Amino acid sequence: MIEQLIQFAYLIGAVLLILGMRALGSPKTAVRGNILASVGMLLLIVATLFLQGVVDFTVILAGVAVGSAIGAFLALRIEMTAMPQMVALLNGFGGGASTLVASAELLSYARAGETPEGVVPYAIVAGALIGAVTFTGSVIAFAKLQELMKGAAITYPGQQFVNGLIALGVIGLCVAVVLDPSALTLFFALVGISLLLGILLVIPIGGADMPVVISLLNSYSGLAACATGFVLGNSALVIGGSLVGASGLILTKIMCDAMNRSLSNVLFGAFGAQTVSDGPADAGPQGTAKGYTPEDAAVIFGNARSVIIVPGYGMAVAQAQHAVRELADTLTEAGITVKFAIHPVAGRMPGHMNVLLAEADVPYDRLIEMDEINPEFPETDVALVLGANDVVNPMARTDKSSPIYGMPILDVDRATHVFVVKRSMNPGFAGVQNPLFFNDNTMMIFGDAKKVVLQVIEAVRDLA
Ligand code: TAP
Repeated sequence: MIEQLIQFAYLIGAVLLILGMRALGSPKTAVRGNILASVGMLLLIVATLFLQGVVDFTVILAGVAVGSAIGAFLALRIEMTAMPQMVALLNGFGGGASTLVASAELLSYARAGETPEGVVPYAIVAGALIGAVTFTGSVIAFAKLQELMKGAAITYPGQQFVNGLIALGVIGLCVAVVLDPSALTLFFALVGISLLLGILLVIPIGGADMPVVISLLNSYSGLAACATGFVLGNSALVIGGSLVGASGLILTKIMCDAMNRSLSNVLFGAFGAQTVSDGPADAGPQGTAKGYTPEDAAVIFGNARSVIIVPGYGMAVAQAQHAVRELADTLTEAGITVKFAIHPVAGRMPGHMNVLLAEADVPYDRLIEMDEINPEFPETDVALVLGANDVVNPMARTDKSSPIYGMPILDVDRATHVFVVKRSMNPGFAGVQNPLFFNDNTMMIFGDAKKVVLQVIEAVRDLA
């Protein structure tokens, strides 16, 4: 009876996870989606505690207490701009947990003098392998984004050959362990070499591609959890793991499409080796960028009927979202139509701009996706670019040698006037200079996005 109740709870939990993920697909329903998925997860966890195999609640409670404390500490302390590396670390923990569970199960079979049969040896090998690659790969991704190690791609001659050899070794060990699951030494050799593979696969990928890699590793962590579900015969883990695996893969594809890159180019193209930079780019267009003041912007806004605000990573850094909403309200009160243009990879994580603007209560219907807003730029009086750079770089349309060539961009240069707010002439994440800044219709306002926006609001009110 209790077993049937647990399975029923698993079913309800799985349905809640699926409904939650569906609701997360739109900003309007995202909060509801989060709640549904959280309730589903809670149900799955509580139901699991009633499983017969659970004998010691002390260890579980200690784990919950330590894990919750670390989780709460990280959630409170981590800056919004550091969210990608936080996600990387959490993926890594998931992968590491799968490897530990697979190893513990194999050891308990060995201790009981038994050999796993059927699908279990395959699942143990898959869980350990994918989990270990995810763990070390995610730790490297974290270290690169946290600048604990060099963000640029680390490459050396014959790298792909060496990785290929190691991958062959991994496949050989997988086959050997599946054929003889009692060979513990081979199993731990597999875990060791998989840990190494995770490091070697991620170090040749540049910092600019790290968010895509993190999304892929997120998918891997789901697959590892799914395999662990088969090891333990636990359907909740199988369902939850496959949902994470599939959604991570879809997200990876969306990000690749938004940057016009193939996944193989991200993984093996070593993009970012020379492109990630914090300083001014040497190459690329040169010219004279014209510096203007917030008061100049207020005068131009005074004659405008339509404004499109284009937020980017700099808005996140400056935490300017509330000031930006205030500016949008002020302009709207002055009779100007204000819209927000959202590029799919603006910022550093999927949905970055949507999350920030939602936090500042900007109405969802003002946020317009790239494909929909691009035809509107030629009819727009002012495009206000706030801390965005790569996603408005016209070189992506024309310069085949540019690392961002082919990436779809927001056509801000086609608006009548363009204001670009940033602190300097430094390039964006891809490390390339932006010809937009030198266009005749572009006016640069140098400064922190939040400070500048507040000054523009004041100047607009003074003129009114
Ligand atoms: P970026 O191209 O990175 O440019 C951001 C600009 O913000 C910088 O040029 C910087 O110039 C400016 N900035 C920084 N702090 C500022 C502040 N406090 N006030 C004002 N400006 C500030 O950003 P983007 O246009 O949003 O493009 C995103 C990039 O990340 C793309 O290359 C994209 O491919 C990459 N990427 C994104 C994702 C996702 S999922 N979002 C995933 C993978 C890769 P100054 O230093 O001169 O101020």
